[in-house]
Amino acid sequence: MMIENNLYKTLIVKSVREIIEGFKTFSFSSEHEINYKPGQYLTLVSHSHNEETRRSYSITSSPVLNESLSIGVKRIENGFFSRLLVDNVVQGDELITIGSGGLFVLPDDMHNYKQVFFFAAGSGITPIYSLIKTLLHAHENIDVVLIYSNASESKTVFLHELKMLEEKFIKRFHIKFLFSNIVHLSKARLHRKLLEEFLNELCVADYAQTLFYTCGPESYMRLCTYTLQENDVPKANIKREDFVINAVRKRDASPPDKNTREVKITVNSNNYHFPVHYPDSILQAAKKAHITLPYSCEAGRCASCIAKCIEGKVWHSYNEVLTEKDIQQGLILTCVGHPVDGNVRLEIKT
Ligand SMILES: Cc1cc2nc3c(=O)[nH]c(=O)nc-3n(C[C@H](O)[C@H](O)[C@H](O)COP(=O)(O)OP(=O)(O)OC[C@H]3O[C@@H](n4cnc5c(N)ncnc54)[C@H](O)[C@@H]3O)c2cc1C
Ligand code: FES
Repeated sequence: MMIENNLYKTLIVKSVREIIEGFKTFSFSSEHEINYKPGQYLTLVSHSHNEETRRSYSITSSPVLNESLSIGVKRIENGFFSRLLVDNVVQGDELITIGSGGLFVLPDDMHNYKQVFFFAAGSGITPIYSLIKTLLHAHENIDVVLIYSNASESKTVFLHELKMLEEKFIKRFHIKFLFSNIVHLSKARLHRKLLEEFLNELCVADYAQTLFYTCGPESYMRLCTYTLQENDVPKANIKREDFVINAVRKRDASPPDKNTREVKITVNSNNYHFPVHYPDSILQAAKKAHITLPYSCEAGRCASCIAKCIEGKVWHSYNEVLTEKDIQQGLILTCVGHPVDGNVRLEIKT
């Protein structure tokens, strides 16, 4: 039996909208306050047959607009959670969430930046849609570019909504749609030369003053990040969001200290403590102690399990989301984090 805390929150489905075939948006109301930043995701939880399953879905609404909290979900053939949502969930249903998370967000201070480029492919538009709406409505000095790849016009999520935004913010928002069904093959898919052409045509500021966000299939995001870096875009100015989490757990090395350590953790106002025996991570040890913590991918790739280290030291077996700056600020990932050199005290606020 799990030790209950106030992590689980109930969402009531306010509306369900089919945007294109196999892709729906769900908007919610909730008695609980669910804070989020544009670009973050909601982690949903399903309990069936005594088993808990969690999946993350990027938030498509913007907190600066008077919009209901919404997500966009693509139906995955044979997928457990996406089919549950797209095929079965209707208005009035209740869903459980552990709240928002993720680091695919805007910097707290946007004063240093003049332009933001987005590279989206398919359902990778979901977090980007929220970021674009926020920038256009709340950051009037920022120029916004969207390069958006899809199979065809009819398979493009938010096509109409994006065109309306482009019309409304004609001076600040520029979209290049790429459709892989068009005859002109050199403009059908994003490739290195085309991306460089877009940079030359649309960049209005130094790369140091420009942010780049990409979300789509792994190979698409690799093309974007490599090409940008080869064109001298600083690595710190490029952000990517991975939807597909590799099931293979990757260990870079073993920790410098494999002794059993005690972890004290405060989750909102609840305090817990439990031992962590190597090779368990902090999250795995918490699960064994029947303590509910936030998590989603369990692989160091989504940042759902982020915590602040107040005392002690945590070593990561893998980390694809925390930057050097995050680590300096004491942020850690419980799913791949191991306490080293003594006991640790952590804090999680949801
Ligand atoms: C940070 C983050 C944000 C995300 N945001 C969104 C979002 O906004 N909208 C959305 O629809 N999904 C999003 N996802 C993906 C989502 O969490 C699920 O992974 C996806 O819905 C599949 O779950 P499932 O239970 O249906 O499939 P599963 O039962 O987990 O898997 C079924 C099969 O599909 C494959 N698969 C899993 N995910 C994908 C995928 N995205 N594309 C193609 N094949 C896949 C698996 O490898 C497996 O073979 C996000 C994931 C992460 C980590
Ligand atoms: S649960 Fe995804 S990084 Fe830890």
